[in-house]
Amino acid sequence: MTLRVRPMAPFGVELLGVDLRRDLPASRLGELRRLIVEEGLVLAREPSMTPEEQCRLGTRFGQIETLSLDGGRRSPGVLIVSNVADDGSVLGASDARMRTLALNKRWHTDSSFREIPAAFSLLRAVRVPDTGGDTFFASLRRAWDALTPEARTALYGLRAVHDYTDMGLPLIAHPIVRAHPESGRPGLFLSDHAPTIEGETESRGRALLKRLLAGCTRETEVYRHTWSAGDLVLWDNRSMLHRAQGFDEQSARTMHHVRIAGTEPVIAATSGHPTW
Ligand code: OGA
Ligand code: MN
Repeated sequence: MTLRVRPMAPFGVELLGVDLRRDLPASRLGELRRLIVEEGLVLAREPSMTPEEQCRLGTRFGQIETLSLDGGRRSPGVLIVSNVADDGSVLGASDARMRTLALNKRWHTDSSFREIPAAFSLLRAVRVPDTGGDTFFASLRRAWDALTPEARTALYGLRAVHDYTDMGLPLIAHPIVRAHPESGRPGLFLSDHAPTIEGETESRGRALLKRLLAGCTRETEVYRHTWSAGDLVLWDNRSMLHRAQGFDEQSARTMHHVRIAGTEPVIAATSGHPTW
């Protein structure tokens, strides 16, 4: 490993001395990718990165997802996550973009409304309010590692139903235990937007998922990022939950988000990895 990093608590690292606007050689890019997969989250300080440079970096991790979450504008590559319009005026509560911001305040992994959810997200702060607007992260892999063998066994084969019907999307079920397609390690796949379990009574499904989510997101297990303009956080959606903190919506908060499409979903094997 030649990348210099500063460990953060309880997980994640800050990348030191690398300018991600420059094209990294393939070997270092591979190192960065492994670092994100291993640590879950990497912070880089990129005060002068342009949206084009952020996209170019994104394409080196895979295919950029096309999303229409910013009110149907279909940004080519960069999703603008903001409470203000291009002219700086504060968006009204009924604007589709504000509804997306509200959904972001609940624990989620990106694009779990898709058959194949997102692999990585690259989120860069452009404009931040004086207070509030932090982002919280929790590790689905650490949560899995903390479960007893009995608790793990009870989860294999279950699928949670992810519900983004508020956004006009169909319900979609995903396995609660999934193997990471790059590291092979199992992890939980939860979301506050996935309240029920397929084939389970609503109350039992809800109770189990609520308990798992609460365990995963205990305060001591959460990395809280207080943004400065220019911060770029790269995370792995296959192992990280995240959620946005609220803020005074009269002040501007603008983030640029480049989201990388995943590959095929992998259901975790029920045996064969005793050391995990
Ligand atoms: C997102 C998201 C969190 C934030 O853009 O997908 O969840 O703090 N953002 O803006
Ligand atoms: Mn998100």
